[in-house]
Amino acid sequence: MNDNKKKSFKRRDFISTATLAGLSLSTLSTKASIPTTKPSSGKRMIGELEVSAIGLGCMSMTSGHYNPPRNHKAMEAVVKGAFDRGVTFFDTAEYYGPFTNEEVVGNALKDIRKQVIIASKFGFQFDGNRPTGRNGRPEHLKKAAEGMLRRLKTDYIDLLYLHRVDPEVPIEESAGAVSDLIKEGKVRYFGISETSPETIKKAHAVQKVTAVQSEYSLIERVHENQVIDTCGELGIGFVPWGPVTRGFLADKFNEYSRFSDDSRFASVSYYTPEAIANNMALLDLARDWGLRKGITPAQFSLAWLLAQRPYIVPIPGTTKLQHVEENMGAIDVNFTVVELKEFRTELEKIKLVGVREPESALTNK
Ligand SMILES: NC(=O)c1ccc[n+]([C@@H]2O[C@H](COP(=O)([O-])OP(=O)(O)OC[C@H]3O[C@@H](n4cnc5c(N)ncnc54)[C@H](OP(=O)(O)O)[C@@H]3O)[C@@H](O)[C@H]2O)c1
Repeated sequence: MNDNKKKSFKRRDFISTATLAGLSLSTLSTKASIPTTKPSSGKRMIGELEVSAIGLGCMSMTSGHYNPPRNHKAMEAVVKGAFDRGVTFFDTAEYYGPFTNEEVVGNALKDIRKQVIIASKFGFQFDGNRPTGRNGRPEHLKKAAEGMLRRLKTDYIDLLYLHRVDPEVPIEESAGAVSDLIKEGKVRYFGISETSPETIKKAHAVQKVTAVQSEYSLIERVHENQVIDTCGELGIGFVPWGPVTRGFLADKFNEYSRFSDDSRFASVSYYTPEAIANNMALLDLARDWGLRKGITPAQFSLAWLLAQRPYIVPIPGTTKLQHVEENMGAIDVNFTVVELKEFRTELEKIKLVGVREPESALTNK
């Protein structure tokens, strides 16, 4: 974003997002509680953890999910550069690579370890480098954590998520394993990813949950259906992955985009030719509103997420520092109550294709 654009929207006298986010702005219910600890400027609280209001998703830096794997040294520079630009919340996982992503993040952050929050995820079984399914058994999780600490070059992980709930293992057992890791000082806080309100409550009863990480963007809003409010009621942060819908809301694709069978995008339901063509209406809406507020569609999409609740911290993924800068620009964007209502009305008129069914929010993905 250029300086003129930055200045132009900073000059505007909008009511602050943080103030508004506690009000009834959307179809999300208003039962959600607001954290009492006040974060510093540009930061947010997820549970008791203070993090930059926008984090950095590191997944595609190594695993070739959305792009060919990148040079590791170059990606370490992106992670470090993101810290220099205000990011303190870094998201990785054992699954990414697998394993190599944690090495990149660990190498990049080892000299500034105490100034950053490292979030990683576990809960999969591997045969060498090949993932073979979920494994939430306590003995497996505890062993996996040792490898994660080694790769991350640290003696503690700030936030450790169960990446997916193992249907074969009661969530209480997996949560109990994290509880033990916390007692041993190897982990500070517990999170879960892509899970139902019921599972969140069960896990929270065993070990306080600090963050739930699930997909949430202007296109994929299924977790507005109970999950986000459950987080608010229990004082849990909500961390949207896919906040720019894997690039779509960052204007990376258009109705002519097509993906080969071996591309990760080929298996994503909102990336079929029909879905892309249909959902362009939403990108157009984000573009229009972006123009109106002097920002890009990616910034608009991220700012809108931030405006939904004060405990929401998106983690856009990128391999490029210029995109980190653009995405961080969303923190300065504020909305009036009227704007949010008006936007929500326009948003709900668009019938999206390829999104999850509402009841899927009540199950573990
Ligand atoms: N818990 C889970 O199950 C789960 C699942 C998936 C992901 N995640 C985590 O969440 C993070 C974010 O999700 P995601 O990566 O799937 O989706 P995302 O953040 O919505 O989109 C990432 C894609 O958007 C592009 N992008 C980002 N900002 C951009 C900008 N300003 N302009 C143009 N393009 C931009 C990136 O390409 P460039 O590299 O070209 O910028 C990348 O290909 C991941 O990195 C990962 O850490 C978690």
